[in-house]
Amino acid sequence: MNPRINMTRRTFASVLSASALALVGCAAGSNGQSASAASASSSASAQDMPWWKKTIVYEAYPKSFQSTKGVETGDIAGVASRLDYLKELGVGAIWLTPVFVSPMADNGYDVADYYNIDPSFGTMEDMEELIAKAGEHGIKIVLDMVVNHTSNKNAWFVESSSSKNNSKADWYIWRDPAKDGGAPNNWRGIFGGSAWTYVEARGQYYLHTFLPEQPDLNWENAEVRKEVANVFNFWRNKGAGGFRIDAVTYIKKPAGLPDGTAESDGLAPIHDATANTEGILDFLHELRNNTVAGTDCFMVGEANGVQASELSDWVGENGVFDMVFEFSHMDLDGHDASWIDAHGWELSALKDALSATQANTASNGWCPTFFENHDQPRCVVNFFPEGSDTDLAAKCMATVQLGLRGTPFVYQGQELGFTNVAWPSIDYYNDPSSHNQYDQAIAKGHTPEEALAGVHRFSRDNARTPMQWDTSSNAGFTTAPTTWLPVHNDYETQNAAVESERDDSVLGYFRRMAELRERSDVLLAGNYEEVAHDHEQIYAFVRELNSKKMLVMANFSTEEASLGDLAGTMSDATKVLIDTYGSGPAPTSALRPLEARICEL
Ligand code: GLC
Repeated sequence: MNPRINMTRRTFASVLSASALALVGCAAGSNGQSASAASASSSASAQDMPWWKKTIVYEAYPKSFQSTKGVETGDIAGVASRLDYLKELGVGAIWLTPVFVSPMADNGYDVADYYNIDPSFGTMEDMEELIAKAGEHGIKIVLDMVVNHTSNKNAWFVESSSSKNNSKADWYIWRDPAKDGGAPNNWRGIFGGSAWTYVEARGQYYLHTFLPEQPDLNWENAEVRKEVANVFNFWRNKGAGGFRIDAVTYIKKPAGLPDGTAESDGLAPIHDATANTEGILDFLHELRNNTVAGTDCFMVGEANGVQASELSDWVGENGVFDMVFEFSHMDLDGHDASWIDAHGWELSALKDALSATQANTASNGWCPTFFENHDQPRCVVNFFPEGSDTDLAAKCMATVQLGLRGTPFVYQGQELGFTNVAWPSIDYYNDPSSHNQYDQAIAKGHTPEEALAGVHRFSRDNARTPMQWDTSSNAGFTTAPTTWLPVHNDYETQNAAVESERDDSVLGYFRRMAELRERSDVLLAGNYEEVAHDHEQIYAFVRELNSKKMLVMANFSTEEASLGDLAGTMSDATKVLIDTYGSGPAPTSALRPLEARICEL
């Protein structure tokens, strides 16, 4: 176990009392990550913090956000048309999933031309206009840089694959066949099958961490690294306010590309072989120095495979990024490896994961807080018991997410309480990983019904259905008769127009919670201390800055939860700053099912 985790678990009484805090702070100095160090490192006020720590980042999946052209898919102008809505949510930056020219084998995560916009999303002028218009709203645009790999239709790859001696011959990872003519090693790609594909013209295989249509760039080649930096600088000069770097932990491969331990299909997961390979940070320091260093443009890395205990290499004073997505809390059920084999999990595991990220960034570093993105099922299904009231669950999660220390990354629809879909057959699904996981389940002997149940639970398409703006046809997403993925059938209640009218909606709550965070130095800049760790239903933590304290409590169960040790905090005089059940009197000895609450201590 990570010894640092203990630092964030103390009895509630000790956190309540200032003198006890000081004492524990001194006693904890031995591992260099003490609570007092965390306090000292917290900015005295939020004013000293960079803009991207104070704001909310909203992830928009443009293909499903808003169509302005009356077609089945959304576009950049559609994002621009909804800036007022985002402003009202307290959003200061929009992360756009990739909008560059792409054959869309993986919905834009296969880039054919980094310097131009895919026509399905609009034009370069649309992008320039979005950046300008967003700027007028005080919102920056964050671009998604997919640079572990390109599309196989990228001109770089077309040239590289044409022969063994061309100017880009070494831009990708080429290897001769094994002695038997097969793939050079036994790695399995993340979307299934061998991670190698043969090209006749070279008589060689190329490596792809994801689909065959997504060949990996060779980062060992300095020319590749230089061109990647050029791409970043091109978009920085256009006014991008930040970059999200896709699949970044895979850019460095281990020397010799050794076989991994084979599983039943004879292949070994490429993730285990290549994620976070020694030496990767050198590439990333170079990238940072040649791009955003010294500017207020931020970089956030998608860091699958980086452990919480390694965060100090990645963020903070000596880090390579301003923030990284650390995924341990998103895979509590082990579904990353296989959807069909996912297992149950306890609330304590979620607490451990979140507290470990907090502890390892407390005195040095910063991370996003996130519970959804375009690759994950909806959080109201992912983190709450089956049958939960999804509106209550969405509010509960919003309280936790915006109550934690870090920059909230909110995924489109999360603020409206969107939930998963369950389509009647695999043919409805667009996501390549859904098809792969379905096939794998069938190959393991599961019935089509069982395989489909896994897809219902984990498909990335759960997050990719069209945004629901109002009760009109196709939820106001497009005037076209059909949409690229079906609109969720709950659109008549879960939509922006209806929820804007109701104070007690998920959206109404989200806006109040965002305002509370924006106004509160304690929530923005205070340190974090988990309390009541052993409580089986409630996740609770205290945020503290300059002796001001707030207690965040969230009941993750569908039963009432007695406050236990936490009860001492609640009296008739306790100032409840926000409560998911509304503004009426809150019970002083319990949290109602799925209730979350923030109190001033
Ligand atoms: C990242 C993206 C995901 C994509 C993959 C390959 O994990 O978030 O959507 O499929 O990289 O680029």
